[in-house]
Amino acid sequence: MSELATIAILGGTGNEGPGLAMRWAAAGYEVIIGSRKAEKAALIAADLNQKLDIGTIVGMQNSEAARSAEICVLTVKATAHQAAIESLREELQGKIFVDATARVEFKNIAPPEPPSAGRIAQDILGSGVRVVAAFQNVPSSLLKKNLDQPVKTDVLVCADDVDAAEVVIELAEIGGMRAFYAGDLDNGIVVEGLTALLISMNKHYGGHGTIQVVGLEK
Ligand SMILES: NC(=O)c1ccc[n+]([C@@H]2O[C@H](COP(=O)([O-])OP(=O)(O)OC[C@H]3O[C@@H](n4cnc5c(N)ncnc54)[C@H](OP(=O)(O)O)[C@@H]3O)[C@@H](O)[C@H]2O)c1
Repeated sequence: MSELATIAILGGTGNEGPGLAMRWAAAGYEVIIGSRKAEKAALIAADLNQKLDIGTIVGMQNSEAARSAEICVLTVKATAHQAAIESLREELQGKIFVDATARVEFKNIAPPEPPSAGRIAQDILGSGVRVVAAFQNVPSSLLKKNLDQPVKTDVLVCADDVDAAEVVIELAEIGGMRAFYAGDLDNGIVVEGLTALLISMNKHYGGHGTIQVVGLEK
């Protein structure tokens, strides 16, 4: 994309959304925080603007945020994944839709059953939306700190549409992460499952372990 796209973070008021929002806003992107409630979105947007000493992040209800952006990133609570996408089906037409959902419960850790979250999204949204699954393994704690530093993680990016994946790979890299195309949306189930491994490892060892790919040059 030649001009910087507007990015909406749908459900951007929780743990994962704000770190992504701040990294892209700091790089000059117009970022919209989406929420079920416009006032909550506006409060979080104001807080993130204050942290960055900027004024460009705005808050809106999810539907308005999705309508206003070219790239929409979903970071709603995993249990709300399907219902949230169904409710935004019309607004998301024509967009790149980035699904960060890893359907793994913290208390009952297990890899999810196929289909992947991204495949579910693509089936609901239809061919008019380019779905990309990404960021499922990026801990919010790493995203939110040291905003001027790279995040020590790699992002596995799955999509049926490789061009859309490349757009998201570039976004991840602008946000300070290395990112790799990792196959179609069905491969996303493995990436979600990796989250179960990582949560188990983090509980066992303590810390915020994530993944890095070796043997591939970027
Ligand atoms: N946390 C992490 O470290 C991490 C890392 C990688 C991937 N992820 C993935 O990112 C997604 C978000 O994780 P999170 O930890 O940020 O979640 P979260 O803080 O629990 O929730 C994020 C937002 O989801 C919205 N939400 C909650 N219930 C909803 C419902 N019934 N319908 C629509 N929206 C609802 C809320 O926004 P409003 O109340 O403002 O609408 C909330 O602020 C998950 O799919 C998770 O698997 C998380």
